[in-house]
Amino acid sequence: MSIGVFDSGVGGLTVHHKLVERFPAADFIYLADQANTPYGGRVGEEIVDLTRAGCERLFDAGCDLVVLACNTAAGIALRRLQQTWLPDWRWRHGRQVNILGIIVPTIEAATGLPWEHEAERRGEKVEKLDVLGVFSTPATAASRVYEIEIDKRRQDVAVFSEACPTLAGLIEGGAGPEELARVVEGHVRALTARIGRPPDRAILGCTHYEIVAGMFRAALPPGAPLIHQPDATADALARYLERHPEYDAGRSGQRLFLTTGRPGAQHSLVETFWGGPLNFEPA
Ligand code: DGL
Repeated sequence: MSIGVFDSGVGGLTVHHKLVERFPAADFIYLADQANTPYGGRVGEEIVDLTRAGCERLFDAGCDLVVLACNTAAGIALRRLQQTWLPDWRWRHGRQVNILGIIVPTIEAATGLPWEHEAERRGEKVEKLDVLGVFSTPATAASRVYEIEIDKRRQDVAVFSEACPTLAGLIEGGAGPEELARVVEGHVRALTARIGRPPDRAILGCTHYEIVAGMFRAALPPGAPLIHQPDATADALARYLERHPEYDAGRSGQRLFLTTGRPGAQHSLVETFWGGPLNFEPA
């Protein structure tokens, strides 16, 4: 089988890149839903429907395991799909397919705790010592998934989200570095003003933003750690495959790139990040 990697567009390539590095012999199929990108300004039901369609396309292509390399899809749709659609799909097709998200590994990396760990609440007030900024799409920020799930595990961490409504679309469209840096700086400034000081650490909570991680690093205080979703997801996938040897990740090193949008080469911002030409085939 192949491992499927799904995103609304090119952002998930940041995760895919790390997965390929970590599992060089495994077979991967990447699917970008560029006909419908960006997801971040869409309503929940649309995000669920589009994510379902993307997973189904990857299952049909032979992937038994799909990594949702998209915070918006994982945060809004994953639980819904796992509860209802996935069991039904398995039953109808007789295949033990599964979908893994990106938010659980990111929260594990941010809290330093396994997902199963929930903080004991003793009722006393816990001082918030660690200020964590999360930059994400409006849909992810509105879901408050990072605030809710981190607070369950680490009450000493104060989470502040900054919704960046245009950033994923600008990256997807290949905007120039000056425009991108201006937008990134504006969001770091806005979050800093809202908190009253810069965050101590930050999560780039949209996989597209990893492509401009250098711009976030330059705008944030020197030394403020960035929590990298690609690393956290690769670690989580390695642990998952170890626990589930029934998923065979393949051995031929296949790399297939599919898009629901316009097939062909990607723009230079993406290819620079990728380190070479990237040719997408029609999904
Ligand atoms: N890359 C995606 C994420 O991680 C989605 C960006 C978008 O489509 O708005 O949230």
